[in-house]
Amino acid sequence: MQFENNAVSIQNLTKTFGDHTVLKELNFDIPKGKITTILGFSGAGKSTLLKHILGLTKPTSGSIHVLGNDLSKLDEVELRGFRQNFGMLFQYAALFDSLSALENVAFPLREFSKLSKEEITERSAQLLESVGIQKISHKNLPSELSGGMRKRVGLARALALSPDIILYDEPTTGLDPITTKMVNDLIVETHEKNSNREMTSIIISHDVKATLKISDFVAFLDRGNIIEYLPAKEFANSTNELVEQFINL
Ligand SMILES: Nc1ncnc2c1ncn2[C@@H]1O[C@H](COP(=O)(O)OP(=O)(O)OP(=O)(O)O)[C@@H](O)[C@H]1O
Ligand SMILES: [Mg+2]
Repeated sequence: MQFENNAVSIQNLTKTFGDHTVLKELNFDIPKGKITTILGFSGAGKSTLLKHILGLTKPTSGSIHVLGNDLSKLDEVELRGFRQNFGMLFQYAALFDSLSALENVAFPLREFSKLSKEEITERSAQLLESVGIQKISHKNLPSELSGGMRKRVGLARALALSPDIILYDEPTTGLDPITTKMVNDLIVETHEKNSNREMTSIIISHDVKATLKISDFVAFLDRGNIIEYLPAKEFANSTNELVEQFINL
C-alpha cells in the first residue's frame, strides 16, 4: 500500500543469519499517525523486523527509512539519539522491580530530559494519571500492582519522552479477557490523545480479533515476506489462504 506520509519505509530488506534467510526482499511502508498491526505465525520474522526499524539490527541488504532518517547513515551514537523517537511497551511491561511506579516513569526523564527533579516528579505523576493510575498507587512497587496496572505504568513510561512512534510487542498475550479489553482500549485512547502530534502506533500481535477492531491497517508477515496488507476493515475478507487459516485458528 502507498501512503501520503510514511513513518517507516522499507525497501528490499533482506536479512540472513548464516544460511537462514529470515526477511526476504521485504517492501513495507507504515503510515504516519495511524495504528498499524503486524500479524504472523511464530518465527515469521516479526521481532527481527522490529529490531531493524529500531536500528538494533543491520540489514544484509536493502534500506530502511524511519521518520526521514536513512538508518544506514547513522552511527551508533546517532542511533542512540534516534531511538528516543520510540516508546516501547513490552509483553510483560518489563518494569524495574525495585522502583516504584512513579520512579519507573521518571526513569527515561532522568536519563534523557533536562527537566529538574521537581518537574520530573510532576510530569511522571501526570503521565501515570493520564493512563488511569491514581495517586495512591504511585509509590507502589510493580509487585504490588495488578497485571493491568503494570501495563498502564509501562505505557506511561513509554510515553514519557513524547515518542513519535510507539511500539507494542504482543501487548495482550497472556492477559485475561477483561484486562485484554482494557489494554486494547488504552492503546486506542493513547493513540487518539496523541493524534494532534501525529504519533504512529505499531503493534505486533497474535490477537486477530482485537487487532481488527483497533487498527487502521493490518499486515501479515509470513516467512520473511508481507503477504497481505490491507485496511483493517478489509482484512477479515482476505482471500489469502494462510491469512484465512490464521484468522480462523
Ligand atoms: N540473532 C539471530 N540469529 C539467528 N537466527 C535468528 C536470530 N534472530 C532471529 N533468528 C531466527 O529468525 C526467525 C524469525 O525470528 P523472529 O524472532 O523474528 O520471529 P517472530 O515472528 O518474532 O516469532 P514469535 O512470534 O515467536 O516472537 C526464527 O527462525 C529465528 O530463529
Ligand atoms: Mg517475536
